[in-house]
Amino acid sequence: MPIRLHVNVDHVATVRNARGTTYPDPVLAAQLCEAAGADGITAHLREDRRHIRDADVVRLRAAVTTLFNLEMAATDEMLGVAEQIRPELVTLVPERREERTTEGGLDVVGQAAHLAAAVARARAAGIRVALFIVPELEAVEASARLGATQVELHTGEYCHAPGARELERLARAARHARELGLACAAGHGLHRHNVIGVAAIPEIEELNIGHALIGDAVLFGLERAVRDMRAAMARGVAQRPARA
Ligand code: PXP
Repeated sequence: MPIRLHVNVDHVATVRNARGTTYPDPVLAAQLCEAAGADGITAHLREDRRHIRDADVVRLRAAVTTLFNLEMAATDEMLGVAEQIRPELVTLVPERREERTTEGGLDVVGQAAHLAAAVARARAAGIRVALFIVPELEAVEASARLGATQVELHTGEYCHAPGARELERLARAARHARELGLACAAGHGLHRHNVIGVAAIPEIEELNIGHALIGDAVLFGLERAVRDMRAAMARGVAQRPARA
């Protein structure tokens, strides 16, 4: 089975917001990713709007032609955004203001009633719902009970301790998801090297990758950016008034 790549464009917005400019534009980034073969675009609208903002989500919805996956906390505010925007897929994630990124999976057991209501609300709007969970069988089973259409397995622990043990944990959770009729995605902390082991798991259909991919784009795009800047400077130099 082929594996799909959803590119998370959050950190294009991080760079933009660092200077309060309108560039680099995460929507243009999304279009470039699609042109390069991405199967979908992911963006996380966080409560504090630290990277992606409401206007970005509206523009992404209008521009994305593959699939739009909106990551969000299961709050009333965010569910309202999803109902308005109608992405093809919503991924519910835990969110704490103080964390640097999404550090763990959802508490699908302790928060079951709250999450079931959120899943039902999004599904009633015709949106598929993924739950971001630790790769444990109980979390997969709870996700099925909550009415999710898919799970996204948190690969953070594998990325911290890559090896057979964490890969087997992911593989077991992925197999169980498929046995229960859930689609299975994975993501968090993946880069060009550690992605290989995860992509080798047959039941994983989709990967959400952001930070490392945008980081690679910065590095590998620098050569072109420097050449373009020199060319622009040369055009300016050519326009200097002739000296008397
Ligand atoms: N999947 C989910 C649910 C996430 O919250 C994130 C981070 O926003 C990612 C994938 C992507 O992680 P990374 O930026 O480390 O590739």
